[in-house]
Amino acid sequence: MVGHRSQVAKDLFAGIQPKLREVFQTQSRVFLTSSSGTGLWEGMLRSCTSGRLLLLTCGAFGERWAEVAQSNGIPFDQASVSWGSPNSPEQLEKALAKRRYAALALVHNETSTGILNPLKEIADVARVFDPEMLILVDAVSSAGGVPIATQDWGLDVVVTSSQKCFALPPGLAFSAVSDRAIDHALKVTHRGWYFDAVRLDKALSKNGTPATPAISLLYALDKQLDRILEEGLTNRYIRHADLAQRAQSWAVEHMDLYAQEGYRSPTVTCIRNTRNLDLTALNDHLSLSGMTIASGYGPLKDQTFRIGHMGELRVEDLEILFREIEAFMEM
Ligand SMILES: Cc1ncc(COP(=O)(O)O)c(C=O)c1O
Repeated sequence: MVGHRSQVAKDLFAGIQPKLREVFQTQSRVFLTSSSGTGLWEGMLRSCTSGRLLLLTCGAFGERWAEVAQSNGIPFDQASVSWGSPNSPEQLEKALAKRRYAALALVHNETSTGILNPLKEIADVARVFDPEMLILVDAVSSAGGVPIATQDWGLDVVVTSSQKCFALPPGLAFSAVSDRAIDHALKVTHRGWYFDAVRLDKALSKNGTPATPAISLLYALDKQLDRILEEGLTNRYIRHADLAQRAQSWAVEHMDLYAQEGYRSPTVTCIRNTRNLDLTALNDHLSLSGMTIASGYGPLKDQTFRIGHMGELRVEDLEILFREIEAFMEM
């Protein structure tokens, strides 16, 4: 293993940065931490929120961010919609008409319900109301699989994890961060240490992280970023849209969809378990062919199940999965 302050590690880090910026569609900076997405998201929320936060929620991950804000002592208001529905620009307009916020946070792709929020439209409303308000986006299950024009849409923080659309092992998290976010962070007194945006920024300017990164995963990341860019972002988005199309048509044919039409996720399909399938037995069956599906999240545990179709999956992979689910249903 090379030392994390060695020239080799610095060169590796320096080589990764422009590729990450390309994927995030930003010219500013992309932080990289050795943690899952939750860790980096908590750090960005804590270190960049310089006043009151507005949190839009539509499912379990949004609820988690309310807990994170609460436990970090960040003053916040939460605007929710029922699960299965998206957050909307109109909902944001209403909330912003009532008071001013230092930051807005939302989940782009709510993995618990299979909803893709209209991020650009929401960001447009936020920018019209307040050019200085930060826009923080949990893009854990969308970045790399769904278009996100970080810079053009005026997004300040866009966080993702390595194990979703990047199709890497878990253990790394990435966040595009704007200059505006760093300016806000400089006004925050207690930013923490490990995930402090200002500290991460200083370390990044020297091609490193404040503490030892998971170097072996960085090699995998470097390679996978080449693969992603070789496929081309547009092709990757189209492939994910095709996967979703196929998953949705299969679900409608055999059961039903949970998420509201028009807002269904390109990376995860949440299916209503209208046939009352025993999901544990289904997964036991699928595991024989090396596959697995996710049961519903939290309160949706047995009512729904979810098929993640992101990363390097192809429609052919989905066909194999559907054949096996159909075989299970006939058993
Ligand atoms: C939308 C969303 N946000 C956050 C997370 C948490 O990410 P991690 O497990 O990498 O901390 C997940 C994980 O599935 C997610 O889907």
